[in-house]
Amino acid sequence: MSAAGGDLEAARQGLRGLAGLAGSPVLDARLRRAAHLWPLKVAPGLDEPGWAALLDATTVQETQLFRAPAQLAALDAGLPPLAGAARAAERPLRLLSAGCATGEEAFSLAAIGLGLALPGLAVEVVGLDICRPALAAAEAGLIGAHLGAPLALVPARHLPWLAGADGAPRLHPALRRLLRFQRCNLLELSHGLGLFDAVLCRNVLIYMETDARRVVLDGLLRLLRPHGLLGLGATDAAPGPPLTPIGQALYRHG
Ligand SMILES: C[S@@+](CC[C@H](N)C(=O)[O-])C[C@H]1O[C@@H](n2cnc3c(N)ncnc32)[C@H](O)[C@@H]1O
Repeated sequence: MSAAGGDLEAARQGLRGLAGLAGSPVLDARLRRAAHLWPLKVAPGLDEPGWAALLDATTVQETQLFRAPAQLAALDAGLPPLAGAARAAERPLRLLSAGCATGEEAFSLAAIGLGLALPGLAVEVVGLDICRPALAAAEAGLIGAHLGAPLALVPARHLPWLAGADGAPRLHPALRRLLRFQRCNLLELSHGLGLFDAVLCRNVLIYMETDARRVVLDGLLRLLRPHGLLGLGATDAAPGPPLTPIGQALYRHG
């Protein structure tokens, strides 16, 4: 292998070990575009500046408000009993976007949570991602046009939270108050995040090695409340017990 080929392979291996990213033509194309960032002379680390910059440059941030709307409608339909239980227990309904990219999935979850309109119910939405610029956009509450017109998939009843009176995309202040974003490697999910009633991890596992997918799924399962809902990407393999499929790549814990 040439020196350049060895450096490329070392970058691939570093990203695999660090974030579980699988080798692919897409990853190689991104690595070549970011060739000014490698080779790296330090061991891979999330907070190692060179590796953090390489992760920022090679992860895929495509997302959209209400992406896969049928799945979100099914999630919405499954939330009322969980919301009722949360309110009865005097705790917030907690929703997680794992691999939130620039935040549109978390914004959608927050709109769904507000749409439940259950008096006395507090809602919290957490977005986790490894990519720093994506998280900065999410924290700024910016709605992007990554996969098409930003509001194209938003159901009419959720528009008041996600569009201004002029019809332009913008987050309602009440929705922004529900959101919290955090840099996190999904391979290292910790109990410190607390438990969630519903978790979305969509279009994330598809970029990962098989072993890494298992680690992420096990971590997410530990964060999911009994009877909680997990939504995966349309092409992700069904995870099996203790998750029960309920349709639309949506699973119930137990
Ligand atoms: C294609 S986006 C998915 C966004 C959103 N979930 C959706 O379906 O529209 C994939 C996201 O996963 C993030 N990601 C990939 N590996 C990760 C890891 N190990 N830990 C945390 N985030 C990761 C990427 O940074 C990227 O923002």
